[in-house]
Amino acid sequence: MKKRFAVILAAGQGTRMKSKLYKVLHPILDRPMIQYVIDALKPAKLEKLVTIVGHGAERVKAEIGTNSEFVLQEEQLGTAHAVLQAADILKNKTGTTIVVCGDTPLIKPETYEKLFEHHELSGSKATILTTIIKNPTGYGRVIRNESGEVERIVEHKDADDKEKSVNEINTGTYCFDNEALFSALKKVNNNNAQQEYYLPDVIEILKAENEKVTAFTTEDDEETTGINDRVALAHAENLMKIRINEAHLRNGVTITDPNNTYIGPDVTIDQDVIVYPGTVITGKTHIETEAVIGPHTEIESCTIGTGTVIRQSVIKNSKIGNDVNIGPFAHIRPETSIGDDVRVGNFVEIKKSTIGNTTKVPHLSYIGDAKLGKGINIGCGTITVNYDGVNKHLTTIEDNSFIGCNSNLVAPVTIEEGSYVAAGSTITDDVPKDSLAIARARQTNKEGYVAKLKK
Ligand code: UD1
Ligand code: CA
Repeated sequence: MKKRFAVILAAGQGTRMKSKLYKVLHPILDRPMIQYVIDALKPAKLEKLVTIVGHGAERVKAEIGTNSEFVLQEEQLGTAHAVLQAADILKNKTGTTIVVCGDTPLIKPETYEKLFEHHELSGSKATILTTIIKNPTGYGRVIRNESGEVERIVEHKDADDKEKSVNEINTGTYCFDNEALFSALKKVNNNNAQQEYYLPDVIEILKAENEKVTAFTTEDDEETTGINDRVALAHAENLMKIRINEAHLRNGVTITDPNNTYIGPDVTIDQDVIVYPGTVITGKTHIETEAVIGPHTEIESCTIGTGTVIRQSVIKNSKIGNDVNIGPFAHIRPETSIGDDVRVGNFVEIKKSTIGNTTKVPHLSYIGDAKLGKGINIGCGTITVNYDGVNKHLTTIEDNSFIGCNSNLVAPVTIEEGSYVAAGSTITDDVPKDSLAIARARQTNKEGYVAKLKK
């Protein structure tokens, strides 16, 4: 096998996106679109991957990190000029260079592999990945001669009516013989409608030198969609969503309405999990078997245990144990760890807290910066008063305690094992083991008061 190199073009501002965010960093299901391109190229076993950055170079580098080398294209003078920026790294190498746009995130690894193989087996100096689409507006058209050989690519803006009627388009992905590429790039000029140096012009240059140029046509025209505006972005998100959901469905996950379920590319789900509509699961979330998620639930970067049920809730950066019952309408904020057989009910917010096995927080509570043991019952309306305006303080509730309704636990404070707190208490001092704490005004009844008032 020949050595393989890749150049990803990502220097353009992406004017048509109408955004402050650089085009290739726009996320599709939680991951910048350029990352999909890099990930899909990974199986090709590249010797080098060079990303051409311009606008937003620092942010692109920060997002992509060590997955690529970077070269700056200071001025965006066109796609040929962009590839030329990689000359210092690549020009003397022998092998195949694939050029890919950072804005075609849907191309699958299999398609890249087929393109490489087609190129290497045919002995071409250039192989264009093309596809046939109904509405080719905006794309470069593939112009073939009478015998069907590729002659050149003409950009939409430079095409005459006859050329515009061609439905075979340049997907913006090509394999080149590396040395032929860099020698042809020097000959590209910018005499065209956009006064840009067009990479597709390399095809015509190689043809004029009697070099072999071919096309590999992929039938899946959706895969090669270039994301130039937010209409295409929404379309790509939709396609990626279905692709991901179908992979889970095939693995034995039930997704009752795949069109209305959003699962990020890094999420892993065991078989026999059920996901109901309106659910968004992102980050490095893992969901274990027999969990039931949704409807209308948002989970980001969490581990969800076996048999746990989560309905209409929001959970972030937390670990949830087995057979836990959460919601409806619970909010579990980062750094929370919940044990097994726990109940977190409606209108409960939990932040940066540990909850032990079988503990119940059934309704209307705020538990923040707290450590709760096992077998505790938290009455409705209990609040951990964790913030004094400057610092956050810890509340500790030990095993088998019982906190009465509408209690305030003013942190730092500890309720020791097996204790009771009377409903309506404001607890400011530690409660010793096995005791009852009552911290509220005593009730007085003024009998006959109302009758006197009305007289
Ligand atoms: C390009 C192709 C067109 C093809 C289409 C497929 C050219 C001239 N045209 O058109 O034939 O049908 O892709 O989607 O190549 N970029 C740079 N530096 C530049 C200019 C562009 O890095 O100076 C990058 C952009 O960030 C983008 C990619 O190159 O990722 C393609 O540029 P774009 O402006 O989107 O080209 P298209 O007009 O879509
Ligand atoms: Ca494009």
